Amino acid sequence: MPVFHAGGSLFFDNNYKELKGFTEGDELPAGKTRVEYHPSTLKHVKQTTQWPPFDGWIECTTNGRMLALLGGLAMEKPQLPAARRFVDEIRALYAQELDADILWAKIKDAMGPLLADPSLKESSRTWPLTVEGAPKVKNLLFYEDPDYGFVFNATVRKANSVTSVHDHGDVWTLYGLIEGHETMYRYERTDDAPRDIGPAQLKQIGCHNIGPGDVDSVPPGNIHQEHGGPENSMAFIVRAQKAGTFKQRTYNQETGEVKLNDGPTLIPHELR
Ligand SMILES: [Fe+2]
Repeated sequence: MPVFHAGGSLFFDNNYKELKGFTEGDELPAGKTRVEYHPSTLKHVKQTTQWPPFDGWIECTTNGRMLALLGGLAMEKPQLPAARRFVDEIRALYAQELDADILWAKIKDAMGPLLADPSLKESSRTWPLTVEGAPKVKNLLFYEDPDYGFVFNATVRKANSVTSVHDHGDVWTLYGLIEGHETMYRYERTDDAPRDIGPAQLKQIGCHNIGPGDVDSVPPGNIHQEHGGPENSMAFIVRAQKAGTFKQRTYNQETGEVKLNDGPTLIPHELR
């Protein structure tokens, strides 16, 4: 784990193992990546060579010790065959340049076989708990598409836990349940206050239960709250964009306060 106290660069091979012996200004051989970093908390870093694709985050503590290189670790296609097929299907749909509503309806249809796949179910039983309730939420990060930017995430939700009332910003989400049961509450705003500032007045407009194989489709701006069922539940998630690259909102139902945030903390995880 490198230690650093000022901005600079780190060098990685194509498995994102750190390379020694390079300095700023060196011309890198093909397949090597230079990552610029900053000695603060979370900083956006950009790929500086053509391959492997990298546009992620480097996480540092305040004393400058690097904790993790996020994003680059999840760039390879998942090992799990059903998930690899799903990547290919989504990429083929994106290539058709469909309207967003149609694109996400088709991705939802294509998600069925993945959710029913026995090896995905088996894999999900090994995933760590990610959601214990508001306000702390984490997501596993399996994959980020280098061309279209969609990502594969997952949650393991603690039984009977309840999230904050929130949206996923202006980004599409498909939330597919693998095991367990959840109840999704839906809200809409009845005020004319600014979207990001509030105060927001919320009205509940729906509530539906989902079980294994069901996909909850969450369009941009949709306000909702997830309630865990009587047992832990596992979900596979497709998002149009990686959390942390856009703002999401949480809503306080009592005070109307709207807070912007970066969404769930991402934990790179291999899907195999
Ligand atoms: Fe949500």
